[in-house]
Amino acid sequence: MLKIGNVEIEKYPLLLSPMEDLTDPPFRYICKQYGADLMYTEFISSDGLIRHGAKSVRKLEIFDNERPIGIQLYGHLIEPMVEATRMAEEALPDLIDINFGCPVKKIARRGAGAGMLRDVPLMIKMTEAIVQNSRLPVTVKTRLGWDEQNKNILDVALRLQDVGIQALTIHGRTGTQLYRGQADWSLIGKVKNHPGIHIPIIGNGDITGPEIAAERFEQTGVDAIMIGRATVGKPWIFREIKHYLETGQALPPPGLKEKVSLARMHFQKSLQWKGEPRGIFEMRRHFSNYFKGLPDFREIRLKLVTSTEVAEISDILDLIEEKYANLD
Ligand SMILES: Cc1cc2nc3c(=O)[nH]c(=O)nc-3n(C[C@H](O)[C@H](O)[C@H](O)COP(=O)(O)O)c2cc1C
Repeated sequence: MLKIGNVEIEKYPLLLSPMEDLTDPPFRYICKQYGADLMYTEFISSDGLIRHGAKSVRKLEIFDNERPIGIQLYGHLIEPMVEATRMAEEALPDLIDINFGCPVKKIARRGAGAGMLRDVPLMIKMTEAIVQNSRLPVTVKTRLGWDEQNKNILDVALRLQDVGIQALTIHGRTGTQLYRGQADWSLIGKVKNHPGIHIPIIGNGDITGPEIAAERFEQTGVDAIMIGRATVGKPWIFREIKHYLETGQALPPPGLKEKVSLARMHFQKSLQWKGEPRGIFEMRRHFSNYFKGLPDFREIRLKLVTSTEVAEISDILDLIEEKYANLD
């Protein structure tokens, strides 16, 4: 059970990671259908928000059918972050999440995202200011530490808890590690099982399927698991993991018909939300992933990811459904 303020999720909660350019409303709609228990917006720049930058403001848009949902913010200065939190609250999310985990140079070098792991006193001061000025539960997402020599997550977790955050998500890598190597869940487990830690701990990193999810829950006792990259092209992963945790049985992957219908729905939502041509361009990576592994698919795939016409893409989806009907 995961409890963050009024958000309560039974049993083995599965969260959709915030991911830039991916976890937008169309993709969140799809993940929700497959059972994501708690989702987040893409991270939103506090500087962008307070300047009323159109891109940042648009990312605040959330919908009732997405609940519970968190808005994630990042920035390197306290005042703009507090102001951005106020703006985010007006969008009425269920919680505010602070990103202290993004390792991208442009962001971390300025001291935002994972860069904040290099200045823990500032991180704590910023978090405290946000908690004190927010009506909503505030949560944090971060990494094990800045680098291999400074894996200070236990100290960071205790101090963040002290200033009032209501849950902590830990990605089991360091900032300088980027996405290399494997996520180290043993340290996540140490934080979770430390007697001084009372807030929920959400584990994140390299969850790719039901067995590994079950193993991580078992091994660390985390309150929830957050899944990022594996949801892209495989949003049914939430359903698969839930089924496995509840029954011990593996659910067969979705058939071709379900995948095509999912691709159609996602495409429609993408067009609605983004219009043309963005709604088409930004579907390409999802299309490729949804149909990965189909035999003799090269040419069709190429058409699907180069077409700029809605009607043509719809025809290609029909063609896929017909051509591979025997796979179901
Ligand atoms: C394309 C991409 C964009 C991401 N954007 C964000 C973000 O906006 N905020 C955030 O906290 N983490 C972001 N992350 C990190 C993920 O949320 C997650 O912590 C990381 O991918 C590890 O989990 P996974 O192994 O399940 O993917 C991003 C990751 C990727 C691959």
